[in-house]
Amino acid sequence: MNCKVRSDRDVLKTHFKGGVFTSLLMTGLFVVVAQGVSGIAVAAEESTHESKHWITEAPSDSVKDQRIEKYLRGFDQPMWEVGERYGSIVQAIKDQNFDLAAYHWDKIKVTIENGLMKRPARRQNAEAILLNNTWADVKNDFTSKDLTKAKQGLVKAKAACMACHAAENVTFINNQPLFTRQ
Ligand code: HEC
Repeated sequence: MNCKVRSDRDVLKTHFKGGVFTSLLMTGLFVVVAQGVSGIAVAAEESTHESKHWITEAPSDSVKDQRIEKYLRGFDQPMWEVGERYGSIVQAIKDQNFDLAAYHWDKIKVTIENGLMKRPARRQNAEAILLNNTWADVKNDFTSKDLTKAKQGLVKAKAACMACHAAENVTFINNQPLFTRQ
């Protein structure tokens, strides 16, 4: 076995100058050490899973924070809520329940703003396309309690949602009944 290794080494030596060969060996060593360390980290995290009190009995504040941050997800989860509320607005306007439409529209703003705390890189498009102007405009349309205006508000809202999806490179989100029916 040793002989085999040594002979492989000799073969390599004929192809690489000393420095390159040493750095190759060191890289291999680093990978082995790094794998060992990450194995230990995984084992530590797994052992703490024994408690169902994954927040209150987290092994440290930093592990607790990491768990909370991970569990609260990114922009997808607030958007899921925004989609639900948007669907409720569509129905509320059909029912001419303008208070309900305005209520969900308020919550959509809160939800998007909370989402931007997590994903600040989305702020520029969110503000330019929806929050700065269109949001208030649509709110006025809903609170006017005029069916024609409220329907116009919905058209503006939908256009803003879809434009932001295009701007954020998730255009496929627009291709679903939430946006294509009505
Ligand atoms: C910042 C611009 C932006 C705005 C404004 C925006 N979205 Fe989104 N939306 C996104 C992005 C980005 C995703 C994909 C999130 C991800 O990949 O984690 C998304 C995803 C979604 C999803 C899929 C969520 C899921 O995982 O099930 C829905 C539904 C949705 N948006 C609805 C809406 C509606 C309705 C509006 C308008 C009221 C809206 N969005 C406004 C950027 C935006």
